[in-house]
Amino acid sequence: MRDFTIDNLTEIVLEEYGSKTDDPRFRQIITSLLTHLHAFVKDVELTEEEWFKAIMFLTRTGQTCDDKRQEFILLSDVMGVSMLVDAINHPKSGKGTESTVLGPFYVSGAPEYESGASIIKQQYAEQVALVQGKVVDPDGKPIAGAKLDVWQTAANGFYDVQDKSMPEDNMRGIFTTDTEGNYAFVTEKPLSYSVPTDGPVGELLRASGRHAMRPAHIHFIVSADGYESLTTHVFSEGDEYLDSDAVFATKSSLIGHYSESEDAELAARYNIPVPFSHLQFDMGLMPS
Ligand code: BEZ
Ligand code: FE
Repeated sequence: MRDFTIDNLTEIVLEEYGSKTDDPRFRQIITSLLTHLHAFVKDVELTEEEWFKAIMFLTRTGQTCDDKRQEFILLSDVMGVSMLVDAINHPKSGKGTESTVLGPFYVSGAPEYESGASIIKQQYAEQVALVQGKVVDPDGKPIAGAKLDVWQTAANGFYDVQDKSMPEDNMRGIFTTDTEGNYAFVTEKPLSYSVPTDGPVGELLRASGRHAMRPAHIHFIVSADGYESLTTHVFSEGDEYLDSDAVFATKSSLIGHYSESEDAELAARYNIPVPFSHLQFDMGLMPS
C-alpha cells in the first residue's frame, strides 16, 4: 500500500474526489476548493491548535444561526465573498441599477402596502423621510406593476428581527409601481449601523482590527415579470462609512441624496409633517 505524505496527499485526494462523480460542475467546484484548501494549510503550516480553533469558530458560527440570524451569510459578507459572488453574477453593464449584497436581515413575506404608505410601525427619528422614484427598463420606459420589497434599520440602528422590543415588520414593506412606473413610501432616513458583533463574526473583526460599521442604506429587491430581479441598496450621500463599509458592498452609482423639504403639498399628499427628508431614486431593471 502507499503511504500518504505531504508530497502526495493533495494529488490523491483530488483524484479521489474528481474521478468518481458524474457531475462536471460539482467536480470543478470540489477539486478547486480542495486544491486551494490544501495549498492554504501547507502555505501557513497550520498548527493543530490553529486547526482546532478554526473548527470551533465554524462550529460557533453554525450555533449562532437560527430562524432570525444567519451568521454564515454575515461571515461571507465581512470576508468580501458575498460581494465577489455578486460581482461575478451581475457584472457592471452600464445599464440598469447595480446590485449589491442581500445581507442577513431580509425576511420574505413583508406586508404589502398601498403606494405612499408608511413602513414605520414604531418611530425613532424625529423626522420622517419620503422615498420616491420610478422603475424603468433600459430604454427608460416605465415598468408598471413592479414589486419593491424594502427593508432597513430603524433609527436606533437595529432591524426588527434584532430588537425584540420592536413590532414585527417595523421598517419593512412591499410596494407596487403604478401605471407610470412610480413608487413611493414613507420611512425614517436611515443611519449608519454596526453589523452584529456579539458572535463569531465580531471575534473575527476584532482580531483583524476592523470596524463593524455599514454606511446608512435602504435595501430593495425590485422584481417585475420579464425582468431580472434586482437586489440592491440606496446609500445615503455624505455617510462617513461609504469608503469603509464592513461588508465591501458600496457602489457610487447607488448613492442617493436626501434633501430637506418643506413642500406642504407633497406633505399633505403623503400625510406627513413638514419638514421631511426627501429621496428620489429611480431603479432600472434589465430584461431577463
Ligand atoms: C445589511 O445591510 O443588512 C447587512 C449586510 C451584510 C452584513 C450585515 C448586514
Ligand atoms: Fe442593511
